Amino acid sequence: MEFENIILTKEAPIATIQLNRPDVLNALNRKLLTELAACVEELDSDESVNCIVLTGNEKAFAAGADIKEMAEADTIDMLSRDSFSVWDRIRGTRKPIIAAVSGFALGGGCELAMMCDIIVASETAKFGQPEINIGVMPGAGGTQRLTRAVGKYKAMEIVLTGEMIGADDAMRAGLVNRVVPVELYLEEAKKLAGVIASKPPVAVKLAKESVLKSHELSLKDGLEFERKNFYMLFSSEDQKEGMKAFVEKRKPKWKGK
Ligand code: CAA
Repeated sequence: MEFENIILTKEAPIATIQLNRPDVLNALNRKLLTELAACVEELDSDESVNCIVLTGNEKAFAAGADIKEMAEADTIDMLSRDSFSVWDRIRGTRKPIIAAVSGFALGGGCELAMMCDIIVASETAKFGQPEINIGVMPGAGGTQRLTRAVGKYKAMEIVLTGEMIGADDAMRAGLVNRVVPVELYLEEAKKLAGVIASKPPVAVKLAKESVLKSHELSLKDGLEFERKNFYMLFSSEDQKEGMKAFVEKRKPKWKGK
């Protein structure tokens, strides 16, 4: 597949997608998002890839949705563009996605990072939902995912003031998994992707699905969902291999089946 606004690098079992509109701080226009959705869907069904890293560049992960593209739009334009259906396609990825964030992760950029499963940040990363400064509010999950990540009070402050928070604050608030020096953020994300990619892929997918369900279901329904995925893994060859290898005191060889 050919892309203009993203760069795909495969180093099986990891794939890295780099957002590539550096002149506009990787502002997320419709073309970029459509390419990104097509790319993650392709990787989701690529058996050589077990984990995806999503990154920008040192200056910006992404500075939000492309403001110039929507400045003149009215409600009907926005409705008929249906811009958020591509976000739903990205959200539907079953393989884990690690965001490697440096510089600005603002508005839709912050929301895109939060749509990923793990966030590795450089010390220079800045997160924020500045939509309030341009007369709107977050529209790609900011009020929901940020609140679940950092709690009501911190989320309210970030969304209502539009102010950015730095990587260390984001780490303390529970928004990022780890903060590393800028020259290491991508390497660190890839290292973590390598660890996850070395695990049995079917169990990884079902575990990701189960963790995400905790945001949608009551505890009772979530526990039942988890239990069904747990039972389901007992029909995988990797469950037999993993437990046999433990008993035989050797390393398991995963088949992804
Ligand atoms: N959309 C379109 N273009 C953008 C952009 C965006 N979100 N963010 C930056 N750019 C462009 C600038 O227009 C500029 O282009 P030109 O050189 O052609 O003028 C270029 O990127 C560099 O930006 P700056 O000159 O502004 O760089 P800076 O270092 O001075 O400031 C910044 C950086 C603070 C991030 C500033 O660019 C900024 O505030 N950007 C907008 C952030 C924002 O409001 N994001 C939310 C968008 S709405 C949204 O995301 C809705 C949603 O929930 C889906």
